[in-house]
Amino acid sequence: MVAPEQPLLPGEEVLGPEFERKAEEIIGQYPASRRSASLPLLHLWQEEFGFLSERAVEWISTKLGLKPIHILELVTFYPMLHVRPSGRINFKVCRTLSCALAGSHELFAQIRARCGATVAAGHGIYVSPDGSYSVEFVECLAACGSAPAMMVDEEEFERATIDTVERILAESREKEAAQGA
Ligand code: FES
Repeated sequence: MVAPEQPLLPGEEVLGPEFERKAEEIIGQYPASRRSASLPLLHLWQEEFGFLSERAVEWISTKLGLKPIHILELVTFYPMLHVRPSGRINFKVCRTLSCALAGSHELFAQIRARCGATVAAGHGIYVSPDGSYSVEFVECLAACGSAPAMMVDEEEFERATIDTVERILAESREKEAAQGA
């Protein structure tokens, strides 16, 4: 059981034809072993729904003719797979050597404190109680020469500090205010 208290997400009950098409396309890339499609399908589901629910484990295992445990063991092993939603703004902080030496662990703690990311949501991801913010460690982001590196959604930030975080939060607030205006 991954997250038994989680109800089905909108769209999970009946997956759309586009989702099914993408899933079949992925499976078709592994004709010799359907099991090899497990991770790509988990990524596909997470991109679509934000995290991996119990339904995800069920659906993917059935689709690939595997036991649910074969999918669940991947979900619980890989840190980039989430069993709870990440925050609306998700900070990914590199914890590999160059960034660790340049203070990424301190930065991680500062972000947690700043955003109130106190809820442990598995695999080291912390989420704020209202679900607005999350922070997690990731491995090398290939910006070792400009450590510490951090990603927010798809954008990468080098030589990141708590000031970088404050700027991101301020920009996000401005954007929301403009959209609400
Ligand atoms: S060690 Fe952090 S980007 Fe490579």
